[in-house]
Amino acid sequence: MSSAPPHISVPLDASRLPVTLPMLQERKRLGEPLVMVTAYDFPSARATEAAGVDLVLVGDSGAMTVLGYPSTIAVTTDELLVLSRAVRRGLRTPFMICDLPFGSYEGSDEQAVATAVRFTKEAGCDAVKLERGNATSVARARAIVQAGIPVMGHVGLTPQTSTALGGYRAQARSSQAAARIAREALALQEAGCFSLVFEAIPAAVAAALMPLLEIPVIGIGAGPATDGQVLVFHDLLGIREGRGARFVQRYADLQAEMDAGVAAYAADVRARRYPQPEHGYSIDEAELEAFRAELARLRQEL
Ligand code: KIV
Repeated sequence: MSSAPPHISVPLDASRLPVTLPMLQERKRLGEPLVMVTAYDFPSARATEAAGVDLVLVGDSGAMTVLGYPSTIAVTTDELLVLSRAVRRGLRTPFMICDLPFGSYEGSDEQAVATAVRFTKEAGCDAVKLERGNATSVARARAIVQAGIPVMGHVGLTPQTSTALGGYRAQARSSQAAARIAREALALQEAGCFSLVFEAIPAAVAAALMPLLEIPVIGIGAGPATDGQVLVFHDLLGIREGRGARFVQRYADLQAEMDAGVAAYAADVRARRYPQPEHGYSIDEAELEAFRAELARLRQEL
């Protein structure tokens, strides 16, 4: 039996207290891997909560995974805010980060702060994420941090500017390109970012960079040396057509499950196997008789 007084609700597992910035930093210091997953709605948020993940990202990848856009470019702040609010309602303990969509922060520091404030006030996120480590993104990150909102940076493959990068392809594969990623990561750290995402860069480049970074780095396609890993919810659960990027490890095949489930339902309706009596509601026989009599009267009035 728990010795805690019954009126105090203390999680049995202290690690399930809401995740804070100092906790993330401490986990890095201890070398304990951080787990991050994307979520885009209430059920995906509940799944991350149940699994006890550390960080949840309402990624602009939701543009593709749940909104059906061909890339992340088109998604708007209002659209991501709807997804973010649903995720917020499903989360209690993970640290929640919202992506700033393309075009919502690059224009000026004022625009960046205003968008970040919207995600904080309207969706209740703990932090925002922005892409790239060029001078513009570093300035925007600094401005948002100075406004009091934690910022996660994102370097390497940055899908919002994938056209300029030549497509969805690994980055930092030459010494020059790797050195540019190093400068970007250090600039974002210096601007006050609490954490960084490394996406699709060689494992050896990530490993060489790690000793320079005091903040937690979360990798996706960046090898095992980073402080944690992130995967897109739909990729790891197989809720998609095709396999996706080489770095994706699939832990379920839910798209096949969903397709089979809907097909079985459709077949049952067409064959009149569904619904069965147990799916319906009953009515008292006398009430039914009275109703039939009332219907007969109604028919005569027609
Ligand atoms: O939008 C997203 O899902 C992301 C992750 C891949 C880090 O930015």
